[in-house]
Order: sequence, then structure tokens, then C-alpha cells
Amino acid sequence: DIKGFVFDLDGVITDTSILHGNAWHQLADSLDIAWSTELGNALKGISRMDSLEMILKAGGKENDFSTAEKEKLATQKNTNYIAEVDKMTPANILPGMKDFLDSLRANGYQLSLASASKNAPRVLGKLELADYFPKVVDPASLTHGKPDPEIYTKGAALLDLKPEQCIGVEDAAAGVAAINAAGETSVGIGNDTELAAADMVFNDTSAVTLANIKAKLDN
Ligand code: BG6
Ligand code: MG
Repeated sequence: DIKGFVFDLDGVITDTSILHGNAWHQLADSLDIAWSTELGNALKGISRMDSLEMILKAGGKENDFSTAEKEKLATQKNTNYIAEVDKMTPANILPGMKDFLDSLRANGYQLSLASASKNAPRVLGKLELADYFPKVVDPASLTHGKPDPEIYTKGAALLDLKPEQCIGVEDAAAGVAAINAAGETSVGIGNDTELAAADMVFNDTSAVTLANIKAKLDN
């Protein structure tokens, strides 16, 4: 029986995936690296430094910068990102997600957060959702980022649940792969081709309800 939900944050609970994408796009432009939608999608769920490496590689510039320079570039992106995050309010919660979280709580499910973002607590604060997530996996504690299962394994462990008792909710292909590898049930939100590996896919957040998930679980 399902007893808990392990949530991704960016692109699932709020629209920050757009803000991350914009901030990376800006950095890529400044480095003369061509941006594409595919590159933007591939970065979803990927840690800050891994994202930077992927962008540099896409531009053939992976050997052009020292570690210190890379740190500086990542900090520059993060400064731009945080400036946008600080403008956020609860109005930035994606459609239906507040109701979904409320219904999960009302039905006794436990919740944890498995976001790769070191800014997750700040974002939750802006959305006034910190109370919903007393258990947050610290991404700094991870040896491997998504698609490695580690973050979802830890998300279940924080709830004292077995992976098979948990549903993971994700907007990124890398995240769905992580949920599946952790042995949890995967709910993908977004494009069903991109997220074909998920146990179930909803095209947008407003369709993500407990009733809709239960209906698909029974199938
Ligand atoms: C993930 C986002 O949630 O967090 C990625 O999908 C982002 O786009 C990653 O790179 C790391 O975020 P941060 O805030 O630690 O740079
Ligand atoms: Mg995401």
C-alpha cells in the first residue's frame, strides 16, 4: 500500500524550471554557447555543477575553464536565479498542486521533498509551503544526482517507508529514471513521450489528483 509521496519541486510544485532554464540560457548566451529546447529539457533535475558541465560540453568548451572559473559561472547563474526566486509568491504554485498537497495530508499520506536544488528551502518559503515538507533531502548530502536513485531512496527513508510504499512525482526524465531505479512508483508531469518511462503521466499539474492517481494504480 502507498503510504508516502516523495516530491520533486522545480517544475512539479512550482514553475521554477522556467526560471532555471532562463538563467542557464542567459549564461550560455554570455559564453557564446548555442541554446536549444532539448538542452533546456536535459538540464531538468540535474544539479547545478552537472548542469554547467553539460552546457559547456554542448558548446565544446568543457576544457576551457578552471574549477575556480566554473564555480564563478555557477555562482553567477545562481545569483540571477535567486533574484527571480525572491519575486515569487504563493501565486507561483502550479495549478492544482496546493489542493493536491492538502488532499494528501488530509488522507494521512506522508510527504518528503527530493529536489536537487540547494535553493529548495528558500523556494518553499516563498510559496509558503515549508509546513508541508518537514522532511527535505539535503542535496549536499548526495554522492550522485538524478538519474541516480539516491535522492529518492533517501526521500523514502526520511519517512521511514520502504520504496514500494512511496510514489515519486517528477517533471524530468532524469527524475523519473531516479524514481524507477529506487523502486518507487513514478508519476510524471509533462510530455508523455519525454516521460515515457513513468508508471503514469499527466500532461499538466491540474490533472494530478489523488483520485486520478488511484484510478491509474488500479489499472
Ligand atoms: C533541480 C532543477 O531541481 O535543481 C535544476 O530541476 C537545477 O534545473 C537543480 O539545476 C539545482 O538547483 P540549484 O538551485 O541548487 O542550483
Ligand atoms: Mg523538476
